[in-house]
Amino acid sequence: MRRPFIAANWKMNKTVSETQDFLSAFIPEVKEVKDVDIVIAPPFTSLAVAAEELSNTNIKLAAQNVFYEEKGAYTGEVSPLMLIDIGCKYVIVGHSERRQYFHETDEIVNRKVRAAKKAGLGVILCVGEDLEERETGKTFSVLEKGVDKGLSETDYEGIVIAYEPIWAIGTGRTATPEQAQEAHEFIRERLRLNYGKKADSICIIYGGSVTPDNIDSLMACKDLDGVLVGGASLKVESFVRIVRFNRL
Ligand code: 13P
Repeated sequence: MRRPFIAANWKMNKTVSETQDFLSAFIPEVKEVKDVDIVIAPPFTSLAVAAEELSNTNIKLAAQNVFYEEKGAYTGEVSPLMLIDIGCKYVIVGHSERRQYFHETDEIVNRKVRAAKKAGLGVILCVGEDLEERETGKTFSVLEKGVDKGLSETDYEGIVIAYEPIWAIGTGRTATPEQAQEAHEFIRERLRLNYGKKADSICIIYGGSVTPDNIDSLMACKDLDGVLVGGASLKVESFVRIVRFNRL
């Protein structure tokens, strides 16, 4: 019922020409992959060239952020309609780096989720605990708040949840399959409380030091439907291996 969903979050990496180089090597390597949703989120400055390269391929385009207003005097911001216009199908909302460095709260995240959905974008909503929260037993309450507040007053359509434990991002310290499965199962239960049976169609993906070495064991977890990959998505070879994971 849920197709594997494998997404690259390039963060603040790659110029326009680096984006072109990556995509021209990557696209032919995955063109036979029909049973996985493949998504790439380059920086804003590369969206136009990526949209051109990805047209008529099996890879969808995503943005890494969006503002919640449609247009107006918001210097430096980008609206949901602008993302649709340039060819984005998805947007990442509430990444921990945005919460940490740009002070995005669950309320702001929720406004962004609702605005993006209203415009017709799919939303990859990120939630996850930091190390202190994990060590003091607050993981589930952080996830509950992130999911409930992030999705407040919105339906389930076009939603993907990314569980990204902050202590695993860019650290080389991956959640074990057991830790990931436990968090994903908890999120699934929360979604069921909110949406009933329809929650079972929502992909819950994992992010945090995903590599070619751990992708197969992560994808074997029952409630883990895909991954959101940072560092290992910047190299063609490693992201190809992740997209073409082995079903254990
Ligand atoms: P890394 O894969 O580099 O740990 O980043 C994960 C992430 O933040 C994806 O959004």
